Amino acid sequence: MIANLFVFICDATLEDKETLDLLGRKFDLMILDGAFPECALGLVYRLGVPFMYINTVGFYTGTMSLAGNPVPYSTTPAFYRPLTDDMNFFERIYNTISTLFIDLLYIPTMVCLQHMVWRHLGSDIPIVWNLNRNVSFILQNGQASVTYPRPLLPNVAEIACIHCKPAAPLPKDLEDFIAGAGESGFIYVSMGSSVKAANMPDHLRKLLVQTFARLPYRVLWKYEASPALLTDLPANVKIGRWLPQQDILGHRKLRAFVTHGGLLSMFETVYHGVPVVTMPVFCDHDANAAKAVTDGYALQLDLETITSERLVRAIHKVIHDPKYRREAMRRQVLLKDQRSTPLETAIYWTEYVIRHNGAYHLQSPARNLNFLQYYCLDQVLFFLGVVYLLRALTRLYLNPRIIQLGKEKLH
Ligand SMILES: *[C@@H]1O[C@H](CO)[C@@H](O)[C@H](O)[C@H]1NC(C)=O
Repeated sequence: MIANLFVFICDATLEDKETLDLLGRKFDLMILDGAFPECALGLVYRLGVPFMYINTVGFYTGTMSLAGNPVPYSTTPAFYRPLTDDMNFFERIYNTISTLFIDLLYIPTMVCLQHMVWRHLGSDIPIVWNLNRNVSFILQNGQASVTYPRPLLPNVAEIACIHCKPAAPLPKDLEDFIAGAGESGFIYVSMGSSVKAANMPDHLRKLLVQTFARLPYRVLWKYEASPALLTDLPANVKIGRWLPQQDILGHRKLRAFVTHGGLLSMFETVYHGVPVVTMPVFCDHDANAAKAVTDGYALQLDLETITSERLVRAIHKVIHDPKYRREAMRRQVLLKDQRSTPLETAIYWTEYVIRHNGAYHLQSPARNLNFLQYYCLDQVLFFLGVVYLLRALTRLYLNPRIIQLGKEKLH
């Protein structure tokens, strides 16, 4: 279904007049999202310009791998699984199968996508999948303190928290609401922007409402509906269609963050040093949660088995067990201790690529090797072949019957 969605989106994009107008203009550089960029790579080829990726889904490593970065299955958790980089034997098997499964799913999608690109942009476009390998630079949404330490080629820079900023004062209505809680403070609940809280199943919504009513804190909840429609809202809860998340996360009276665990939310929570309760929904949420739990600043709840009791307990635990805030603040210090800010890093490398009209000298030839070549398996096969041949030849020549035969001929 997701595969069909990509093809559908590609069709709509390449049909769009505004997209096609771009082809008449001149650019120095194109910056694409590194998760599934293949449709746009057709445009990049037509324009004949260097391109970069911003890998927003930091745990998705497909385009990193195509650029030649090592992403061994033994230490690279599949982006959609609740695994970390430290896996036991069975987890590694699960991880390898999960990663291969996504790669397999990719094949039919890429075939459909390729035809879509040919239809819209002309049949001289090379295989878009392979165009991936020509990426000049990758801005990776990660950093060892919040994602994992990884071997990266010189044409990759990590820019986690590029958008993070110190908290500004809140609008008056929010500030008044929080002040009303006195010293007990408040918690912040948000399922992000790609999951619409207002679309959640009614039993889950009721469960959250009941839970919030039991808490001794005020609750600020990002919920995309008019308060008039929510008649059962307890007095300690305030909802908002769109809330200034970072200003809230940086607020002195915030006690905990209840989140779906989107990667940017996780980065922001570390940047502001706030403990979290995460309820993963889809995509990379499970992987993000696994990392946050390992780092000790998060508790994770499963939406399938969640109960009001469990949620209350988790919220109390991350607030009252000092370990959670301490670990969040420890990660915060590590995240901020960098030579330059992520934004400065990103600007430097973007301008670098423009200055040199691409960064082809930073590319690794590993990007053009297939799996067998990269791991020297073709050589192993070759040597095995040689050994086999030698053995067969030796057997032939040292065979007593043949030696006997040779001797007889000599006489
Ligand atoms: C990579 O892109 C540049 C700029 O469009 C182009 O000149 C070059 O031929 C491309 N290389 C490959 C191997 O496709």
